[in-house]
Amino acid sequence: MLSKTMEAALNEQINAEMYSSYLYLSMATWFEDQGLAGCASWMKQQAQEELFHAIKMFDFLAERGGRIILDAIAKPPHEWGSPLEVFEQVLAHEQKVTGLINDLVDLAIAEKDHATNIFLQWFVSEQVEEEDTATSLVRRLKLIGDDANGLFMLDTELGQRRFTPPAETQ
Ligand code: FEO
Repeated sequence: MLSKTMEAALNEQINAEMYSSYLYLSMATWFEDQGLAGCASWMKQQAQEELFHAIKMFDFLAERGGRIILDAIAKPPHEWGSPLEVFEQVLAHEQKVTGLINDLVDLAIAEKDHATNIFLQWFVSEQVEEEDTATSLVRRLKLIGDDANGLFMLDTELGQRRFTPPAETQ
């Protein structure tokens, strides 16, 4: 049985994942506007991945008999100065989400809620991957600098990304 505190915390995390999805979709609109279709597509895939995170948490709450209450999603920013600035914000955002997940794990441990702790371990691993991807893209954009050709090549590469939900939830 989920405690009311854990139920509320997981509901908040559903909202945080929905905001992540909305933020990345907003970044996609900026890239579309800049003519960087590959980066825009990458962000749309990222938005889908975040929606998947929200639904994974939704399903777990439902399975544990928790009450799911959806809250308003905050308005994301819509202007950035450069592709590097966008990806630096992605990295900062993912670091923040890692902190939220770690707080949830701390709560599960404090409450001796082993089932929620085990469930959250998937998100702990996922955040390592998310931060690694964002860090790598920030580094590459720093190397590219003002090289339009390098940016075009990265844009083409990022356009290849396709998000596929893990098999057990399909
Ligand atoms: Fe749902 Fe990007 O963390």
